[in-house]
Amino acid sequence: MNISISISNDVSQSANLVVLVNEKTNWKSLESIASPAIAKVIQDKLAKKVNPFVLNSGLETLYVASIDSQKELWQQREIARKFGYQINKSLNVQKIESVALFNATNEAVLAFSFVESLLLSNYEFPKYFTQNTNTKSLSKITIDKNALTKAETSELSILADAVFKARTLVNEPVNFLTSVQMGEEFKKMAKEAGIKIQVFDKKKIESLKMGGLLAVNYGSQEPPTFSVLEYKPAKAKNKQPIVLVGKGVVYDTGGLSLKPTANSMDQMKCDMGGAACVASTIYAAAKAKLPLHLVALVPSTDNRPGENAYTPGDVIRMMDGSTVEVLNTDAEGRMILADALHYAKRYKPELVIDVATLTGAAMRALGTHATAYMGTANKSVKEKIEKSGFDTYERLWEFPLWEEYGKMLESSIADKKNIGGDLAGMITAGKFLETFTDYPWLHLDIAGAAFTLSESEYRGRGGTGIGVRLLFDFLKNY
Ligand code: BES
Ligand code: MN
Ligand code: ZN
Repeated sequence: MNISISISNDVSQSANLVVLVNEKTNWKSLESIASPAIAKVIQDKLAKKVNPFVLNSGLETLYVASIDSQKELWQQREIARKFGYQINKSLNVQKIESVALFNATNEAVLAFSFVESLLLSNYEFPKYFTQNTNTKSLSKITIDKNALTKAETSELSILADAVFKARTLVNEPVNFLTSVQMGEEFKKMAKEAGIKIQVFDKKKIESLKMGGLLAVNYGSQEPPTFSVLEYKPAKAKNKQPIVLVGKGVVYDTGGLSLKPTANSMDQMKCDMGGAACVASTIYAAAKAKLPLHLVALVPSTDNRPGENAYTPGDVIRMMDGSTVEVLNTDAEGRMILADALHYAKRYKPELVIDVATLTGAAMRALGTHATAYMGTANKSVKEKIEKSGFDTYERLWEFPLWEEYGKMLESSIADKKNIGGDLAGMITAGKFLETFTDYPWLHLDIAGAAFTLSESEYRGRGGTGIGVRLLFDFLKNY
């Protein structure tokens, strides 16, 4: 993240000034940044429903964006983010490097969301271009002292940086980002944030008897890893840790139950989106010094149809001792998450949240606009995370874990099968995971929202970094 944010007593002299307004705007308050004549022009434009618009007066450019105060606040926040994206775009066109913000609405949080989007819209992944392809110009944001506090601006910088790290991890192809390399990237992040990390190698994973993770790895040329990150501040509010578990399949071919090559495999470098999310979340939490004891666990491998690949019909003994009949090697995420969820028991956690690009069914049900979730955590935890979902616009929608769905996993030769049939695939996947938990638990299936083929406003293109802002907001308010 190479944009600096500073706070100023007087933004009126800025050459490029953004003003957020709404129906509650006190037009007198604009006097400090605009002449009465300009304030009048602004009101006339808004009366004609021109929104947003740009005013050029001499050497200065004024961007005015009006936010509908009739809408729910979480919707207003997203409108502010959309404006952030649009204004970032027009700054790029004009190669403008600095911009200032004045919030003339009655909602402080709209400035937060606007700046968040200005930052998030600036993401690029230039690593593999041999020529300079940089199209982003913004490097400095100046914020009126009444719009945001110093603490908020540093939180925004930390968050954008963490989301960028998650996006980059997803965007890295598997010919760079193997499981071992992902462990290396996590070590860099842990060092930067001052948190503890261990990356278990194959030997250690074998000694732990993580049968699910090892089975998925059988067909691979690369060893698996299991990363454990821990952030434990001196004055943590929680007695028992909150554990985040991320699916770290660095590439999913489907294994012997090979995915059809057309389309369905193209984006499968994104199958570690859950891993990127939880590592970036604990990174952000540590940098922002949230008073919470957190652990992040990432089981990682690629899923390939190599010579020794695990095979439909195999029965695998999992770390918890239970057996699984594998009937589709493409249902690999649950195999590796199962061992991680079992491993999490040793922390006696007060809450475990797993994040995974787990099922096409979740994507079919909700598209790319929401995350399917389910779990055994209590109602108040669910309400809180749903609220964070709306506030960050990383929305969640709950699915049920009724026992009938569990019956769909019954096997004739083992404790359970790894697939539940054609129907309700995101729920049977969740039921499978549930059997490896003995603590309050939430499962977030981000298959739809983790990756986007075309630019999706401030979410960018490719890896979206979904879940980082959501979980950070949830933890901040925990
Ligand atoms: N990684 C996929 C799920 C996925 C699909 C993620 C689309 C992102 C976009 C997962 O491992 C998978 O293959 N799931 C199967 C499960 C099935 C075989 C029971 C699926 O959803 O088809
Ligand atoms: Mn799969
Ligand atoms: Zn997968």
